[in-house]
Amino acid sequence: MNDLTDIQTRFPALSDGWARFDGPAGTQVVDTAIEAMSDWQRSGRNANSHGAFPAAQACDDLVDETSKIMGELLSADPVGMTFGPSTTANMMALTRAVAVDLKPEDEIICTTLDHDANVAPWLLAARDSGSTIQMAEFDPNTGRLEAESVIDLISQRTKWIAVTGSSNVIGSIPDITSITRAAHEVGAKVAVDGVHLTPHRKVDINEIGCDVYATSSYKWYGPHAGIMWIEPEVLNDLSVYKVRPSPEKGAGRFQYGTPPWETLAGIKEAAKFLLSVGFESIVKHESVRFERLLSGLIDLPKVRVLGPHDNIDRAPTLMFLVDGKEPEEIAQEIAKSKIAVWDGHNYAVEAMNPLGLDEKGAVRAGVCIYIGDEDVDQLLEAVSLI
Ligand SMILES: Cc1ncc(COP(=O)(O)O)c(C=O)c1O
Repeated sequence: MNDLTDIQTRFPALSDGWARFDGPAGTQVVDTAIEAMSDWQRSGRNANSHGAFPAAQACDDLVDETSKIMGELLSADPVGMTFGPSTTANMMALTRAVAVDLKPEDEIICTTLDHDANVAPWLLAARDSGSTIQMAEFDPNTGRLEAESVIDLISQRTKWIAVTGSSNVIGSIPDITSITRAAHEVGAKVAVDGVHLTPHRKVDINEIGCDVYATSSYKWYGPHAGIMWIEPEVLNDLSVYKVRPSPEKGAGRFQYGTPPWETLAGIKEAAKFLLSVGFESIVKHESVRFERLLSGLIDLPKVRVLGPHDNIDRAPTLMFLVDGKEPEEIAQEIAKSKIAVWDGHNYAVEAMNPLGLDEKGAVRAGVCIYIGDEDVDQLLEAVSLI
């Protein structure tokens, strides 16, 4: 187990003294990823794929190495690893391909707990194919999406289920393994939005059994990019929109143009960083700080914490409000103490109404690897003064 008390020293950007509770919107970048990106651009290996000279070979090797390390991080077959600009873009590419084969009698299940990156692309696929969306609802009293509320909607007509690995606003983690098992009994496929889950839990795709898993490396100390794993047979069967010279099979069919090599170099190092710290240490470190934050906010008289009030099966992320203040005002007040929190719906648009919120949402604070006890105390102090 690693002691993470000095982990802040690995993040050059934190030297500005801000306490960064905006990790769910994007984390600071770890030193080795920053160095790998600039090293790549200085190295002369900047070329293109499938060429007859060493720099071109280095580009191919980089794709293989990054896929391999991502396979290790997510416990998945590296053959299914695709890279793109963001999870939103990757999901749009996926659903555009899925829509080609959907029929009007088909159904897709989405959830009210999901970020819109795993809802809107499916709504568009349903619009284009004439198929129907069923919406599984989370319980606003507990803040949890019970597996049954998804499973109960599954029928012979279900073709895809789009479900989050963890809510990006209230952190709750649904039982995606049970959902996937039930989906596969009727031949339906499951696309997991793992963007908020990946930095906080050891993900084991082999165990979950899902068909698609999406994550974004800028949420786990790497560069801005999306990585989407697609089960290799599903990947080969999809009616992918692609340019004609790109391969007919394998991850290459999802490669839209020349990959950003330096970004891949950064993803590789960020994934290595998570693996080297280890999720046992990450979960322990984040849980302790999160419990301090959660209980501290619950104890403040004018504060209302939304979502689960416990730390069971959840990422270390919460939303809160202060009586009589708009979310934006609260975030602005907190920022005066050099503390970054986010306000709004954070694109979890379906979750706002069940949580009793409008489009202005609430204030979101997320604990990540570099949040220390003193950051939590500073945030509690700032909120108590509002
Ligand atoms: C849970 C979740 N899914 C999807 C996304 C979208 O990711 P990207 O910005 O890579 O498109 C986000 C971004 O905040 C997110 O938190």
